Amino acid sequence: MISKPVIMVNYKTYNESVGKRGLELTVNIEKYAKGNWVVCPQAVDVREIVGSTKLPVFAQHIDAVEPGSHTGHTLFEAMVDTGIKGTLINHSENTIELWQIEFLVKKCKVEGLTSVVCANNPVTSAAAAALGPDFVAYEPPELIGGDISVSTAKPELVAEAVRKVKAINPNVSVLCGAGVKNGEDVKRALELGTEGVLLASGLVKAKDLESVIRELESGLP
Ligand code: G3P
Repeated sequence: MISKPVIMVNYKTYNESVGKRGLELTVNIEKYAKGNWVVCPQAVDVREIVGSTKLPVFAQHIDAVEPGSHTGHTLFEAMVDTGIKGTLINHSENTIELWQIEFLVKKCKVEGLTSVVCANNPVTSAAAAALGPDFVAYEPPELIGGDISVSTAKPELVAEAVRKVKAINPNVSVLCGAGVKNGEDVKRALELGTEGVLLASGLVKAKDLESVIRELESGLP
């Protein structure tokens, strides 16, 4: 079970967060963070990072295939074997079909993993909630990687996503992401009814990791 509120860091495929630098980023988060954090390294780094940290490690993506004749896919069972605690599903930079989202949410339940389904607007957030994941992460694609956070630029849509998700399934927690960079962004996200944030560039590309980690945490209660 992932404690909330939570700050989830998607390492994506930035030079700053793969291989050795991904390990260093994880060490820094573990060293300076006091709240609940989750890290999502690139697939090739997952096993090593799981073995080197106490932080919960999630996959960024897993393919919806059963063991067998598939090429170039990441098998769910193989990811489970690395020791991950959960996975992002349907990130807007790696979208999948509806049946694949359902397949992965179900597999997560069977294996006791935390599922985080990403959605691009409040309506798709509600649709994702109908599949019963642990989290829905609302991220407007146009704000991803930018300087303005979703909680500042689109507060009404974050609140709407929370309302719509809870109306479908009150047990699903909502995160928001895109452009989250500081404590104020985190604070606003929580005030709007979310239970955490999903972020990448604001931390991964930061020069001074310690100060950004502390700054982000200043928005936690
Ligand atoms: O999954 C996190 C994400 O897409 C947001 O990215 O760089 O805007 O924090 P970023």
